[in-house]
Amino acid sequence: MIFELSEEQLAVQAAARDFAQKELKPGVIERDSKMIYPTEQVRQMGELGFLGMMVSPEYGGGGMDSVSYVLAMEEISKIDNSCSVIMSVNNSLVCWGIETFGTEEQKAKYLPRLASGEWIGSFCLSEPEAGSDATSQRTTAIDKGDHYLLNGTKNWITNGGTSKLHLVVAQSDLEKGHRGINVFIVEADSDGVSIGAKEDKLGIRSSDTHTIMYTDVKVPKENRIGEDGFGFKFAMKVLSGGRIGIAAQALGIAAGAYELAVDYSKERAAFGKPISKHQAIAFKLADMATEIEAARLLVYRAAWMKDQHMNYDTASSMAKLYASEVAMRQTVEAVQIHGGYGFVKEYHVERLMRDAKITQIYEGTSEIQRLVISRDIVRNGNLYVPILPPTGVTV
Ligand code: CAA
Repeated sequence: MIFELSEEQLAVQAAARDFAQKELKPGVIERDSKMIYPTEQVRQMGELGFLGMMVSPEYGGGGMDSVSYVLAMEEISKIDNSCSVIMSVNNSLVCWGIETFGTEEQKAKYLPRLASGEWIGSFCLSEPEAGSDATSQRTTAIDKGDHYLLNGTKNWITNGGTSKLHLVVAQSDLEKGHRGINVFIVEADSDGVSIGAKEDKLGIRSSDTHTIMYTDVKVPKENRIGEDGFGFKFAMKVLSGGRIGIAAQALGIAAGAYELAVDYSKERAAFGKPISKHQAIAFKLADMATEIEAARLLVYRAAWMKDQHMNYDTASSMAKLYASEVAMRQTVEAVQIHGGYGFVKEYHVERLMRDAKITQIYEGTSEIQRLVISRDIVRNGNLYVPILPPTGVTV
């Protein structure tokens, strides 16, 4: 590795690995099959500090860097991606967004609850007709003096059924286009908030994904984050960081499937020797290892750039684009290496293959990541960024 991890970062990685193996692995197949929300596991994640890793200690968080966060995401995602998406949304979209752009009152009121896991947060941007085209918000938040009146529907909301705090993106002034969009902290028990049925999904099945309806919800003015019209930029900023978390999730999925495939291929014999010694399998393992290592470099680099306060938008999109494509490709290979066993739940790889798909879709599809990267190329030309630029360089 080019990056040298600190003792603290290695300790976080070891703690996450231990937690995932001991506490998440035992029930993960049943939770996935029956779509059981991991209530106890989320409680434990809060207790262990995985839900507010980057939140400052003064607000009850771990005060850690983004590299520590992706190390933990990677380990947890090797085992349970319902838990890791709950963790990712809470950490990098909700907590980071409030801490970076919120008022002192908002931070003091909400971060301690979110960082401890007493409350889980959700990020409500997507709508039935506004997914990739995020500027086309139909949810409205009309200024009524001392409050905004919120009306609309949000789709595919991770943590939708359990979250006590929603970050809701809504249009306040259609004439201003995306500059009329605001973002609000909405408490889930506010009058007029209703939650649709839990989605029955291909993967990450025990996480709760819901449609949320807002009907004449009165949102206090002090719950708006940032200046009037800051909502779209807020969404773009938090998604840049969020994509590093999803990239780490994809990396964990790929690495988890790879580790299972290596172990299985050493144990399983065919034609008189372990299948790992047949070139057909050995070359697959070589390709898997190479692609995963390349994805790991991109993911760690994006996290490191964020920690250095560099512009990480493109690095984050590259990490998510590549890691999610690797996760999809390599989980299919892991199932193939397991043969018939790979097709049954007991061997875990089919679940990782199903979980991999969403990493190419949520927090910006692969196509959106290509759009972000290509716009930067066209605008700024050569994108070469050294892996370890001198510290202090900011873009
Ligand atoms: N930081 C700050 N500002 C940014 C920005 C960034 N990274 N990216 C764009 N902006 C600003 C632009 O500067 C521009 O502002 P001005 O006009 O004032 O200069 C404004 O935002 C509009 O930008 P664009 O013209 O580039 O907007 P666009 O309509 O072409 O779309 C997009 C940009 C990148 C495609 C964006 O719409 C996008 O990211 N779409 C995908 C949305 C997405 O990721 N959804 C995921 C849902 S959330 C989720 O999945 C969470 C979950 O539950 C797991």
